[in-house]
Amino acid sequence: MWRASVITIFPDMFPGPLGASLAGKARAAGIWDLAAVDLRDHATDRHRSVDDTPAGGGPGMVLRADVLARAIDTVAPATDDRPRLLTSPRGKPLTQARVAALAKGPGVVVVCGRFEGVDERVIQARNLEEVSIGDYVLSGGELAAMVLIDACVRLLPGVMGKEASGAEESFSDGLLEYPHYTRPQLFEGRDIPAVLVSGDHGRVAAWRRAEAERLTRERRPDLWAAHAAARDGPSARPAHVPGDAPKKATDG
Ligand code: ADE
Repeated sequence: MWRASVITIFPDMFPGPLGASLAGKARAAGIWDLAAVDLRDHATDRHRSVDDTPAGGGPGMVLRADVLARAIDTVAPATDDRPRLLTSPRGKPLTQARVAALAKGPGVVVVCGRFEGVDERVIQARNLEEVSIGDYVLSGGELAAMVLIDACVRLLPGVMGKEASGAEESFSDGLLEYPHYTRPQLFEGRDIPAVLVSGDHGRVAAWRRAEAERLTRERRPDLWAAHAAARDGPSARPAHVPGDAPKKATDG
C-alpha cells in the first residue's frame, strides 16, 4: 500500500479534500493510506512549543529543528525508505515527472512548512527535499501537501477509471490538452468542430494533436520549447556561429 504521512500543526485539515472523490474512494479501497501527525505531540515543554524567534532577528517564527527531527524520526525512522518532502515556496517546482516517480515508490513523508520557515539544520540533517507547487505564497504548506498527495494518488494502479485518461492528458507528452466537446451539437450558436463528428478517427487525432500544439505554443512557450527540443533532438539545434553570442555589457 502507498503510504502518505503528513507532519503538520493543523492535523484537523486532513484528510480534507483527500477524503472525497477519487482519492477518498481509493483510500477506502485500501490502495493508499494517510496519517496526519500533530507536530505539537513532539514538543517537550508544557506549552507544546514548535517554533521560536529567528536567529539574527526579524519578523515571524521559525519551526524548531529538534521538535521537527523528533517528529520525523517517529513517523519515519531510518529504515523507512519513503522520500521526505518539505512544502515550501522556495522548493524545486513540482512537476508531473516528479509526481509520477513518487507514485511509483512506497509513498511520501510530507512536512508542512509554516511561519517564516524551518530551521535549516533539520532540512539538512533529515535530508528534506523542498518542493513548491507554484510561484505564489500560501499561508501554510498543508494545501501544498494535499495537492502533491492528490497528484500522486490518482496515478496509483486501480485509481483512475480509464488508463487513457492518464495517458492523453496535459503534460504526459509535454503538451497541454486539446479542447473537449460534448452534446448538445449547437450551444448558443456555437457548433462542435465538424471534424469531431466526422467519424474519421485519423482526422480527429490529427486535429487534436494540432490543437494541443497550438495551445501549448500560445500559453506555455516554456513547455513548447522543451517539447520541440525533445522532439527534434540535439541535431536540430542551430550550430554555434562564432561571434553570435550576445554582447556582454561593458563599463564604457
Ligand atoms: N507553502 C507556502 N507556499 C507554498 C508553495 N507555493 N508551495 C509549497 N509550499 C508552500
